[in-house]
Amino acid sequence: MAEEKERRQLASNLHDNVTQTLALCLIKSKMLMESLSSTVYAEPLNEISELIKQTLDNIRTMTFEISPPDLYELGLLSAIESLCERFHDKYRLTIYFHINREIDNINEEVSVLIFRAVQELLFNIVKHANANIARVSIERDRNFIRINVSDDGIGFSPSVMNNKGNYTGFGIFSIKERLKGIGGQMDIKSRRGFGTHISIKIPVIS
Ligand SMILES: Nc1ncnc2c1ncn2[C@@H]1O[C@H](COP(=O)(O)OP(=O)(O)OP(=O)(O)O)[C@@H](O)[C@H]1O
Ligand SMILES: [Mg+2]
Repeated sequence: MAEEKERRQLASNLHDNVTQTLALCLIKSKMLMESLSSTVYAEPLNEISELIKQTLDNIRTMTFEISPPDLYELGLLSAIESLCERFHDKYRLTIYFHINREIDNINEEVSVLIFRAVQELLFNIVKHANANIARVSIERDRNFIRINVSDDGIGFSPSVMNNKGNYTGFGIFSIKERLKGIGGQMDIKSRRGFGTHISIKIPVIS
């Protein structure tokens, strides 16, 4: 889990150092604005403040994407719930999700993999699918965890995934690589005009 540790470290450095310094810049530029008697600087100073605010906002989103605090603090179930809520608020995507409670007992390596996979698949829906509705389900039976992520969007031809010439993305490839490491599988069903249905199956020892 060295990679996750590094991510957490990077996220908290970003948060603690960069955000703090920028917040200070914002305070100083406000002080400067108030103390200047001439109004010629008002507009550029205002612009600077706005830029700093935007950057703070971007860093907040980035920090979250690098290392989601919910996953470690609240467990997988709540982390996925809040991931879905954020996708809904930010991208206006309606997400129906069904998760059975037993998934909170699985180990950290598998939890992280599931979280990142769902995050990537939801990002793909937002970026590529032009969908109104997405469905996420995570279920555990005795020996497997099954994850389904589907959408009612434009669909694509999964055969492009095997054709190196057309294949540009890293997201699906990287989920597949991670799954290989723990004996999992991914199955993509998609057709132009008929949405996309992706299912992932991960063996667990009970
Ligand atoms: N839900 C979806 N609906 C429509 N097309 C999709 C969907 N998911 C994936 N695709 C198609 O499959 C391709 C590969 O997806 P992948 O996640 O591997 O790459 P990417 O999203 O393009 O780039 P990256 O993930 O590296 O930022 C996408 O470029 C897109 O054409
Ligand atoms: Mg992608």
